[in-house]
Amino acid sequence: MKIARFSKVGFILAAAGSAVGLGNIWKFPYITGEYGGGAFVLIYLITVLLIGFSIMIAEMLIGYLGRRDTVSSFEELAPRNKHLWKFGGFQALAGLFVMIYYSVVIGWIFNYIVSALSGLPSSVDEAKTVFTTMLHSDFKTQLFYHTASFMIITFVVARGIKGGIEKLNMVLMPMLFIIVGVMFLYATTLDGFHQAMEFMFKPDFSKINSTAFVTAVGHAFFTLSLGMGAIMTYSASLEKDQNIVKSSLIVVALDTGIALFAGLMLFTFLYQYGGEPSSGPGLVFISLPSVFYQMGVLGNVFAVMFFISLAFAGLTSAVSLTEPMVQYFIDRFSWSRLKSSIMMGLFFYLVGIIAILSHIDGFASYLTWGSRNFFDWVDFLTAAFMLPAGGLIMAVFVGYVLPKSQVEKVLRPQLGRAFGTWYFSLRYIAPIALVIVMLNLVGIL
Ligand code: PHE
Repeated sequence: MKIARFSKVGFILAAAGSAVGLGNIWKFPYITGEYGGGAFVLIYLITVLLIGFSIMIAEMLIGYLGRRDTVSSFEELAPRNKHLWKFGGFQALAGLFVMIYYSVVIGWIFNYIVSALSGLPSSVDEAKTVFTTMLHSDFKTQLFYHTASFMIITFVVARGIKGGIEKLNMVLMPMLFIIVGVMFLYATTLDGFHQAMEFMFKPDFSKINSTAFVTAVGHAFFTLSLGMGAIMTYSASLEKDQNIVKSSLIVVALDTGIALFAGLMLFTFLYQYGGEPSSGPGLVFISLPSVFYQMGVLGNVFAVMFFISLAFAGLTSAVSLTEPMVQYFIDRFSWSRLKSSIMMGLFFYLVGIIAILSHIDGFASYLTWGSRNFFDWVDFLTAAFMLPAGGLIMAVFVGYVLPKSQVEKVLRPQLGRAFGTWYFSLRYIAPIALVIVMLNLVGIL
């Protein structure tokens, strides 16, 4: 099965497009707020450098050597126990599961773009009512925008790596950088910027506990798109002479840069106009709109720009979450790309409707188990469990199963003397950290 190749820039933008997502602009600022700022940011940055970067290289290497869908790549590369290792490739399923709620959230963002055009809520209370009304009673609006999101994503994926995914990223990513750049520059001119800098970069270690630690590690994985076969699938379409290490470095730098810029910008606005940094998942949907309202006309423009950039970030990640399983059915079952895209799209679309319903009054009680509804369970099980598990499988596979000579042949020329450090981190630091995270999440540690 021949896979279309990315251009070099196309690959980097697509991988960066996958990494830079709702995780950077929506999730990172609010969890940083919840865990008190500086110390949390520091742990996240150390994790990204020490573990995220190593696993990114490993994931790219599997795709690059395997050249096929995730399942076939594991199967072909494993020197023995091929049938067992092929299950490692099913981490691609996690991407499709994430899409169940990711598409719904992209739908909310579409809705916010449209409503920001007509006006903004004048207070936090009003903003809260707007958001909770949509969430708990407005099934139709959510379904409408979830449908739009499903159609765009399926259309792009159906057009393939070159004509769909690469094109989408070549257009949206530069625009995203410009929008975030402009808003960030504006933020630097405000007084609140200094407070924001202090909040994000002055560590207060008294705020750190094991949950904060685990959240930081989990988030580093989520934001870098690791452990779901997304980067692996894109790397199967790499040019043979593309430098994996350099590409990983650029992707990690862009992803971290956007998260820090977005965080600084949001906190500046919040400090300047009196919002709450620790207001949780509602930060961009509740606090921010009322902050934008207080900025006057400029705020309206910013609100639209902000939600557009969020939609761009979301869409470029969404296609990378869907593509691995699409590729799997094309490769293993000889489905046409169109059929495979529609089937995968329908999966997250239909199950996504259940995720919407799990917030809607009257349905919610049937779709809630324990402390979480269906939407939250999907988020929790994917981000907290499937992702670190996927990361662990890759670290073990590249660190212990692939012959060292095979790994060295590709990476020694690119890493030079850093090869030993990378290999050590992959074999020891990453697996240990991931096991701790997983044990902690199931409540054992
Ligand atoms: N990295 C994306 C984000 O930050 C999410 C994602 C995870 C995308 C895994 C692909 C694979 O939102």
